[in-house]
Amino acid sequence: MTIGVFDSGLGGLTIVATMLSHLRGADIIYIADTASAPYGEKSPDQIRDFSIRITDYLVSNYRIDALVVACNTATSAAIAKLRERYPNLIIVGTEPGLKPAISHSVTKNVGVLATPATLNGEKYKALVAKLSEHYHVQVFEQPCPGLVQQIEAGKVDTQETLSMLEGWLSEMRDANVDTIVLGCTHYPLVKKSIEQVMHRAIIFIDSAEGVTKRLLTLLEQKGHINSGSTTLEILTTGAIQSSMVESVLGDKFSIGMIKLPD
Ligand code: DGL
Repeated sequence: MTIGVFDSGLGGLTIVATMLSHLRGADIIYIADTASAPYGEKSPDQIRDFSIRITDYLVSNYRIDALVVACNTATSAAIAKLRERYPNLIIVGTEPGLKPAISHSVTKNVGVLATPATLNGEKYKALVAKLSEHYHVQVFEQPCPGLVQQIEAGKVDTQETLSMLEGWLSEMRDANVDTIVLGCTHYPLVKKSIEQVMHRAIIFIDSAEGVTKRLLTLLEQKGHINSGSTTLEILTTGAIQSSMVESVLGDKFSIGMIKLPD
């Protein structure tokens, strides 16, 4: 099976890392759209355009069997359009895991960190409305504009990043938040800094396991046998820090540059 995966940059590699440890007999093509990053501070229309161009590229150049939208922001803005455009393609999206966070939280005070576009999106709003009918929990939503850029630059624990986090997290710290949803695939890369600012161990909820499980189920329904070796090809549309790629995947991979057709 050939699996296309994309994100605006490094973030989706946090999902690829989990895919690599569960998925056998697959060729993974990863596109980091760093030329258009950050997605989370763009309009839904722009994010839809980026997502369609990348998917078209993966379908026409690699004949992918499945697509993983390894980006909460692109899932929110574009997944419906992608499913409409490619009705026969397996498409798995990434969404903030608010429901598991509510069930893990002991204090019933839950934080959600995501990009401005994800938190403003219809999908997220519908999720919160649905869950707040059933659960008594206080949810602290926090957009983190600029955090993706810090992570892409490898500044995961600099003083500047810690001060940004301090500004976003102090209210959650005071409210005894014990569980934080990492609603952007870049944010698992700053877990340690978040705990440093929160002054406590945090239960983190990200979507890597859920996305991988869903992908495997759908692939197996199409006859995939999960054995053999898996390959990974990484492509970018702009600059990327190869040392960061290595720190996420724990291994060296070659990185190719592509230009998406207009
Ligand atoms: N990693 C992406 C996400 O999960 C978006 C980052 C960006 O703003 O480009 O939302």
